[in-house]
Amino acid sequence: MAGPKYSATCSAPVNIAVIKYWGKRDTKLILPTNDSLSVTLDQDHLRSVTTASADESYGGKDRLWLNGVEEEIAEQGRLRTCIDEMRKMRSDKEAGDDKLPKLSSWPLHICSENNFPTAAGLASSASGFAALIYTLATLFGLLPAVDNSQLSRIARQGSGSACRSLFGGFVAWQGGEKADGSDSLAVQVASREHWPDLHALICVVSDAKKGTPSTAGMQRTVATSPLLQHRIKDVVPARMKSISDAIQRRDFDSFAAITMADSNNFHATCLDTTPPIFYMNDVSRAIVQLVEELNRASEEAGKGKVAAYTYDAGPNAVLYAPKENVQLVLQLVRHYFPNADFDDTFNLLGAGSGASHRGQQAAVPLPSGLPSTFNSSVIPVHEAGAVRRLIHTQVGDGPRKLNDAECLLKEDGEPLRL
Ligand code: DP6
Repeated sequence: MAGPKYSATCSAPVNIAVIKYWGKRDTKLILPTNDSLSVTLDQDHLRSVTTASADESYGGKDRLWLNGVEEEIAEQGRLRTCIDEMRKMRSDKEAGDDKLPKLSSWPLHICSENNFPTAAGLASSASGFAALIYTLATLFGLLPAVDNSQLSRIARQGSGSACRSLFGGFVAWQGGEKADGSDSLAVQVASREHWPDLHALICVVSDAKKGTPSTAGMQRTVATSPLLQHRIKDVVPARMKSISDAIQRRDFDSFAAITMADSNNFHATCLDTTPPIFYMNDVSRAIVQLVEELNRASEEAGKGKVAAYTYDAGPNAVLYAPKENVQLVLQLVRHYFPNADFDDTFNLLGAGSGASHRGQQAAVPLPSGLPSTFNSSVIPVHEAGAVRRLIHTQVGDGPRKLNDAECLLKEDGEPLRL
């Protein structure tokens, strides 16, 4: 479908931090209290797609549709900041070349969709803001003169973690020191091609109640947690260095040890907050016990760690593991947490690539190939649906420019789907 005359469509990936961002030193500019580092996940499985179009005829104001629903663009809000910053770059470009159409002075229509349901319990703000910024940069003809690190500075002002979704592979958000935020940006530590073997299994844990939103939660931690000060000063700087080295060496043992320690340290600062914040629940903690036992038994057998867990501001586990270990981890999780919906992207269960396993499933036996000292009663077999859904993906690439066939706006600038 052709789409409007001046339009661009791009996608951006989800990222999951292994060194967590938690706390702001400036809430307006979104400047963090510590550096962080993440793994970008594959857009073939999880992504946000955004179309942006500018046209003189679009009434007087910018409009935005998210997953088919029109959203207000609040004055003073984060979206407004991002759009204004991008417009300013376009207007500087137009000032230097009067043959360019004056896109910076025309209203925008922006339409964005995620290919994963919000019900999956995954934060979409990182991929969403990264897709928005990359799409506007494409529409405004700013690439490649403006590089992705520069764009990350703007995405950061939409949602902190979004700055890391401007790159594929392994990405550091350098918190920076300046008050104006000019040195607070994302850089790539290693590409996906450097360590393509790293896979992720997302365990979506049922949770009826909605937890504390991360924006509010982290400032409560900043205001009240003495442990956070120790994390900022002593814990994170050393870990940023050691995990970057582990990634360079493709050393899964060290990568896993640091990832799990940092997740636990972050959740400890949440518990150290007044009043305390609980993101992990009993199912989250059972998954920790399972992975710890698996790693212990594997190490006792003279092999390395099998998998690493990490948790964001919610109960879902993200398990990182080398490709060859995913089969074992998957079957172990399916044994202890029966009936999770699973789309088998890599055909691990042999029913075809992408085969959908839904609803009532036969009990999954303990997998063969477990290390001999593995204690199978480390956790009980949980009730069906305690883990609602499993998503298997891998390290992925950065934002992509898509072709017209994926445009989300019709020729008249109205959304394709409402
Ligand atoms: C726990 O980026 O969602 O996922 O900057 O306020 O939008 P805002 O917060 P957000 O926080 C993410 C916190 C985290 C850790 C991480 O991704 O590093």
